[in-house]
Amino acid sequence: PSTIDLAVIGGDGIGPEVTAEGLKVLDAVLGDDIAVRTTEYQLGAARWHATGEVLTDADLEAIRSHDAILLGAVGDPSVPSGVLERGLLLRLRFALDHYVNLRPSHLYPGVATPLDRAQISDEVDFVVVREGTEGPYVGNGGAIRVGTPAEVANEVSVNTAFGVERVVRDAFARAQARPRKKLTLVHKHNVLVHAGHLWRRTVDKVAQDFPEVSVDYAHVDAVMIYLVNDPARFDVLVTDNLFGDIVTDLAAAITGGIGLAASGNINPDRTAPSMFEPVHGSAPDIAGTGKADPTAAVLSVALLLEHLGLDDPAQRIAQAVAADLDERSADAAALSRSTAEIGDALAARLS
Ligand code: NAD
Ligand code: IPM
Ligand code: MN
Repeated sequence: PSTIDLAVIGGDGIGPEVTAEGLKVLDAVLGDDIAVRTTEYQLGAARWHATGEVLTDADLEAIRSHDAILLGAVGDPSVPSGVLERGLLLRLRFALDHYVNLRPSHLYPGVATPLDRAQISDEVDFVVVREGTEGPYVGNGGAIRVGTPAEVANEVSVNTAFGVERVVRDAFARAQARPRKKLTLVHKHNVLVHAGHLWRRTVDKVAQDFPEVSVDYAHVDAVMIYLVNDPARFDVLVTDNLFGDIVTDLAAAITGGIGLAASGNINPDRTAPSMFEPVHGSAPDIAGTGKADPTAAVLSVALLLEHLGLDDPAQRIAQAVAADLDERSADAAALSRSTAEIGDALAARLS
């Protein structure tokens, strides 16, 4: 493309702080080659307080017209929990059919990790393909007799053959394109027998179309162990919406922290724009302090560029991040850089 038409949703808390740095780096890496046209959407807690609106149909249709979306984070302690998370973030993921929630993890040299590096045999570099439009996230539940001793509260996980197959197929294709060509299904089919067996049968079926990909399975609880004591074993992990949410926070924590973890909410069929965002939330505890690490947002910009077919600038961002992390690990002054200073340092490396 000669221009990128980008919707930007900063959102709440540290969201706008980190998207600002992401845009700074995007401008630096593209230089004069490609123009970026951004449209900011004021969505989140402030808008909800002012108007009672979360995401109107008109907002959604306007957002739909862009090439891609960059999102910071949503959620604020002053808004009832779930109003913005469901009404804004999940509504976008569902309406724009972001059925692949792509969450890569890479342990860069030098970054702080609770892992024992001496025990790590190989490179830690894996990607979680998290289903993005089904599972317990659809809101197919309900409660009766709320607030009484007889209350019943149900959250139903929806798993369709169509929805499982399309994300599993995407995960196999990604595994096929990677050197190790390995796919791990993560579920809990020893207990969740209905959904678990659908996922398992689907993986077995799709595997026949990808004979070069080796397949294994791990229960999600055991994955928590392996991520801590042998994360190098993983290549591509495919899992449902809720397991994927949980697995990827631990994946972030072992690979340098939540401030580095990027994600893409991808619509592989390109019937609507994909949306790129850090894995982390609005971090109200550090909002406004300049302590937020914008690297996750910056790496999300790299995923955005890759999705648009711009592999070269995407790789240059990843290299700049690697160099910056290296510098930060070696130098105490660099380690205490603010949000904007990290963005400036990355932009300087790229321009
Ligand atoms: P969180 O990710 O916002 O924060 C968890 C911890 O990580 C906090 O200690 C925070 O200070 C730290 N942290 C997060 N991002 C960081 C960064 N870039 N640099 C340094 N430290 C960082 O999760 P939470 O506290 O569970 O949720 C806070 C709010 O965010 C809630 O309203 C939640 O619903 C929402 N949330 C939104 C998203 C999203 O928009 N995608 C994701 C997760 C949580
Ligand atoms: C994430 C967040 C969201 C999720 C919430 C805020 C809806 O935790 O992006 O990981 O659960 O998907
Ligand atoms: Mn999460």
